Parts: sequence; C-alpha cells; structure tokens
Amino acid sequence: YLLLLLLAFLACASIHVLIIFILGTKKSKSSKDPPGPNPFPIIGNILELGNQPHQSLAKLSQNYGPIMSLNLGSIKTIVISSPKLAKEILHKHDLILSNRTIPDTIRALDHHIFSMVWMPPTNQWRILRRACANKVFSPQLLDSTQILRQKKVQELFDFVKEKSEKGEALDIGEATFITVLNSISNTFFSMDLGYYNSSNKPQEFKDIFFGIMKEAGRPNVVDFFPMLRMLDPQGARARMNKYFGKLIDFFDGLVEERLRRERKLSNDVLDSLLEVMMEDNSQVTRPHLLHLFLDLFVAGTDTTSSTIEWAMSELLCNPEKLEKVRKELQQVIGKDEQQQFEESHITKLPYLRAVVKETFRLHPPIPLLVPHKSEDSVEICGFMVPKDAQILVNVWAMGRDSSIWRNPNEFSPERFLENDVDFKGQDFELIPFGAGRRICPGLPLASRTIHIVLASLLYNYDWKLPNGKKKEDIDMTETYGITLHKAQPLQVIPIHA
Ligand code: HEM
Repeated sequence: YLLLLLLAFLACASIHVLIIFILGTKKSKSSKDPPGPNPFPIIGNILELGNQPHQSLAKLSQNYGPIMSLNLGSIKTIVISSPKLAKEILHKHDLILSNRTIPDTIRALDHHIFSMVWMPPTNQWRILRRACANKVFSPQLLDSTQILRQKKVQELFDFVKEKSEKGEALDIGEATFITVLNSISNTFFSMDLGYYNSSNKPQEFKDIFFGIMKEAGRPNVVDFFPMLRMLDPQGARARMNKYFGKLIDFFDGLVEERLRRERKLSNDVLDSLLEVMMEDNSQVTRPHLLHLFLDLFVAGTDTTSSTIEWAMSELLCNPEKLEKVRKELQQVIGKDEQQQFEESHITKLPYLRAVVKETFRLHPPIPLLVPHKSEDSVEICGFMVPKDAQILVNVWAMGRDSSIWRNPNEFSPERFLENDVDFKGQDFELIPFGAGRRICPGLPLASRTIHIVLASLLYNYDWKLPNGKKKEDIDMTETYGITLHKAQPLQVIPIHA
C-alpha cells in the first residue's frame, strides 16, 4: 500500500515537473528575463536602492538598460527607463499592466478597497474615474470654480505683501502648500482648511497631510516581505490608521451636514458628487466618496506645491530666466498692480508654460510614478514581465537622459519653445502625470494651479535670498518620499518690484 502511494506521488511530481519544464521552455524560446544586478539571498536587491531610489535606479539602468529586473525582498520588480518602453507599458499593454502593488500603510482603514488610486482597474474604478472626469475635473466645472481659486491666490499675494513689508523670508513650499490646500478645499467644499499665520490657528490638516506623506514615503519592511503584515513591525499602519481616521471622520461630518440641508447651496464638488451618490442604483457609496476625498487631497496638495517650490528655486538659480518670465507677464497682463492674473491668461504665456514643463522634466514630483502591477505575464520588447510583478517607470531618469535631451542637467525652458512636447500623456519623454488609463485625473487642476500661483509670485515681486546668500548657495539636493522634495526648503524675501 505504501509503495503504491509512493509511486502515485512520484508520478504526480514528475507530471508537475514536466508541465513546468514545458511552460518554462515555451517562454524562453521567445523571451527572456530582463537583465539586472545579482540579488542577495532573502533581501534581493534592496540595498541597491539607497536613500534616493530614483537616482540609484537611474544609475543601474545605465549598466543594465531601459528594462531591468530586481528582487526587492520577495517582490519581483521591473524598472523602465526609456520613453519607448514606457509607451509599451502605459499604452500598448496598458490593460494587463494597470493594477497596483499596495503599500502596507495603504491598507489602513481598508483604504485600498475603496480608493480609486489603489483599486484594480475594475468596473468600480471606471465608475469613480468617470465621476471625477465629469464632476470634479471637467473644463466647465474648473472654469466655474476659477473665481474661488483666484481668491486663494489673492490671499497668498496678501501674505507675500505682509512678509515683504516686514522684510521677512517666506518658506515658498509651506506657503504654497496652504494656497494649494485651500484652492482644492474651496473647489471641493467651499471652505478653507489651512492658514498662513500658524500662530493664530492650529494647522491640523497640514499636520495630518504631512504625517501621511511621511508614513507613506518611509521604507517599510512589510512592503518587501508581505508575510510580516500581521506584525506591522514599524507601527506604520497603526499611525496611518490614526491619520486616515481623522480625515475620514471630518469628511463624513461634511457629508452628513450637506445631506441634512434641504436645498443645494454650495454648487461645489461635494454637492455634485452627492448627487451621483444619491442616484438610483448608484455604485458610488458613502465610503467610496470619503476615501475619494482622502485620495484627492493627498494626491493633489504636496505634488502641486513642491512643483512650485522647484520652479521658484530653478528660477532663482537662473535670474535671467526669471526676468524673462516677468517681462512676458508684464507684456500680457500689463503693469497695473490691480490687474488680476486669470487662468485664461495661461495660453498667452508660452515662456511661463515652458518653465513649468522644464520643471517637470527635472523634478517630476512622483519620480517612479505610482507602482503598477502586472495582472498576467507579458512580453515587452523581447523580455518577459512576469505575472504580479511590480512595475516602476523612472520618469526622473528619462528627464535627465542625454540621449533624449541636450544638456539634460541644465534648466533651459527655451528647449520647449522649439517643440510641441507637453506633459499630458502623449509625449512619452515627459510624463510626470503618467499616461494611459491610470494617468493622473487631477492634471487639469494641477496645471491651472501651478501656472496661476507661479505667475502671481513672479509678477510683482523680486526675490532675495536671506542672510546675504547668493544663488550659488541654493541647495538643490532632493529627498525621496511620496513626493520628491527639496532637502532644504526654499526661504526667500519678497521685495516689491
Ligand atoms: C495619479 C502625478 C496632482 C489626483 C497620479 C499618478 C501620477 C500623478 C504620476 C500615477 C499615474 C500612474 O499610475 O501611472 C501628479 C502630479 C501632480 C498631481 C505630478 C501635480 C503636479 C494631482 C491633483 C489631484 C491628483 C491636483 C487631485 C486633486 C490623482 C489621483 C490619481 C493620481 C486620484 C490616481 C489615479 C488612478 O489610479 O486611477 N498623479 N498628480 N493628482 N493623481 Fe495625480
């Protein structure tokens, strides 16, 4: 009896090995694994990432090529570093490669289940994307809420004026974070969530958003070894639970209050999305709505304000370019101080637009995009991307590739006056917002906000570095996190021009 059992087991095992062998040889006939550094046992290539993963991966890709394979702990990771391969991933094989790998912190309060950013591209995801396209980011809605954002920019302007009169330095990243936060919160809820003078009011929301950025950006051992999930050894998910909990409670309170109103009063995004939620058989439920707001605030604030900070830093390092922007602004808007800058002016300001593109090329806020995941194995240019692999598209490396850009490390907006390259997902050499079905839905709002805030900061003010510092003293070092920040915040004194 034992012998029979052993023979049966051996027969099964041999069939198994045979199947694996056949499948394996079939795969290797047409395609092979992407090249990459040799992994160490257990930890794989984690140590290769260093403090600045986007930079380390860019260097590795110079050795191994534009498609690389790494083992990050137990996570198979494919890194893409050329526009041609990015197009294969985000356009040609978009359908199979649009799932997400979920960082453990995102599992806090089951965010990954309700969140549009993190759910797989299912029917539910499509419904949420459609609601965003029609009720949050449509050109008509953005046009109708323009006046709210303009008011927020005016408040930034008043704050700059106050600093200028006192001769005090302004932290550009911090101040513009408040402007962006309030632009979004007024577009969505018709209310402010942040304050410039933090001594007067508590900065509860700013602190929560910064806390979320910190947790989500910090390396977490669970993301490399998911079997440790139950333990949460760094306590990151527990802290995220707290941050998410505060925001979800706050959004829920707003929803409750609006539902109690008899008439629609605000005509903002919350009113529009509540209409969608109340439709018969709506698949947009209350948790979907609350987690969507969480997504939109987290994805939209720091990305936008850090772009403005990088743009200002580059312009201060290159005063002749700053002067060119100001001249263009004065020509188009005139020198009248009372003249307000409007979003409709953006199309008339080609040099300002070129400055924004050049900033995205050198400082994409999400340098590796949000990680994608393969639903199935797929062949990309002769290489096999296995099922369930994490896919990182290194847009930072592509922005600094000398085979694509002349003098890639130079800040030269002029290069964009000579071509039609834009950041809207069609030109794969410049995709700070991604491309294809997962492209950032907030692009239209981010683009309007960055241009209008930059124009307002540059139009009436010269900017001087404090403590006699010169442009050479501006530290352009990056710190890696959920968004790519300046390691040293830009502090500058506004001088009325
Ligand atoms: C996704 C960049 C502003 C909401 C993304 C992705 C990138 C990105 C790279 C991932 C694309 C991919 O997976 O391939 C940026 C940049 C911004 C910005 C550079 C500003 C400079 C905003 C704003 C909002 C927003 C203002 C909303 C208020 C989202 C959402 C997603 C997303 C909801 C997830 C889309 C999905 O997975 O289906 N963004 N973003 N973003 N962004 Fe943005």
